[in-house]
Amino acid sequence: MSEGTSNGRPLAERVATRLLYPTSRPRGKALRAAVSARVVLVTGASHGIGKATVRKLAAAGAVVLLVARSREDLEQVADEIRAEGGTARVFQADLSDMAATERLARDILAEHGHVDVVISNAGRSIRRPIDESYDRFHDFTRTIDVNYLGPVRLLLTLLPSMRERRQGHIVNLSTWTLRMPPGPQWAAYGASKAAFDTWLRTVATEIAVDGVTVTSVYMPLVHTRMSAPSDFGPTPGLTCDEAADVVCHAVVARPVEITPWWTGPLQAWSDLTRGPAHRLMTRSYRR
Ligand SMILES: NC(=O)c1ccc[n+]([C@@H]2O[C@H](COP(=O)([O-])OP(=O)(O)OC[C@H]3O[C@@H](n4cnc5c(N)ncnc54)[C@H](OP(=O)(O)O)[C@@H]3O)[C@@H](O)[C@H]2O)c1
Repeated sequence: MSEGTSNGRPLAERVATRLLYPTSRPRGKALRAAVSARVVLVTGASHGIGKATVRKLAAAGAVVLLVARSREDLEQVADEIRAEGGTARVFQADLSDMAATERLARDILAEHGHVDVVISNAGRSIRRPIDESYDRFHDFTRTIDVNYLGPVRLLLTLLPSMRERRQGHIVNLSTWTLRMPPGPQWAAYGASKAAFDTWLRTVATEIAVDGVTVTSVYMPLVHTRMSAPSDFGPTPGLTCDEAADVVCHAVVARPVEITPWWTGPLQAWSDLTRGPAHRLMTRSYRR
């Protein structure tokens, strides 16, 4: 699947996507004003949403710091950015290695002095029914490490300097599924994403007083290598480019959250009717 294009997407899906996820593409001028010469750290910048996001931010004048495990892929993205006149720096790190993640944060502070924006995007998804998970405890540790503990470890080192400078913004790539009744087979992924979502929203209430803001993006389905192995049937999804626009909008407007409009009514319905919502999920799984 090609990343970042809408090539080959049927017209019906493109129309459905527009209606379901009317994304705001920030004006070039607004994005430049928000990020020009600012230090923006993006985890998971070697592929998918992160890769499309760093390209847009660098084109708007940000100094982008690219984090992921695969150095070659990161260097390629950085080279493309530099060829376009942008500024990119590569930091290879595995966020599931806590010592390496702490080192990463310290190296970044030593080299750049501070970070203006952190986009917590690196992630790992696992979709597996519980009856195939009894001897796979590592599914749960792997997802919790990269989706929760690593991002926490990173921010624990970066937050003091952001708070001292009394400015900074953190964008979390959360998932729309957290706004829905829990869906079958997503226990490991859902629990790990929920953990960081709750942690960061809680911390947000404490750091706002120091001018550090947080946006939780409840991202819908995006066509990436992460979502490719799962069969989402006819569910319409965003391209990486569209998803990157959502992230850039978060950076410019700094809302508390961005979520598809229809999750509100659905969540209200599911809260009011826990039984029927649960039965619906159970039936869909049996099918
Ligand atoms: N795709 C969707 O439908 C969707 C929907 C809602 C939310 N999201 C969220 O959006 C984020 C990005 O997803 P995506 O679809 O763009 O996935 P992706 O294409 O698989 O990219 C994931 C990125 O995370 C990096 N990464 C994975 N494990 C890492 C680790 N241990 N340490 C450091 N970096 C690591 C990967 O690079 P390396 O492999 O080189 O390390 C890659 O750059 C995730 O947090 C995901 O949960 C995605």
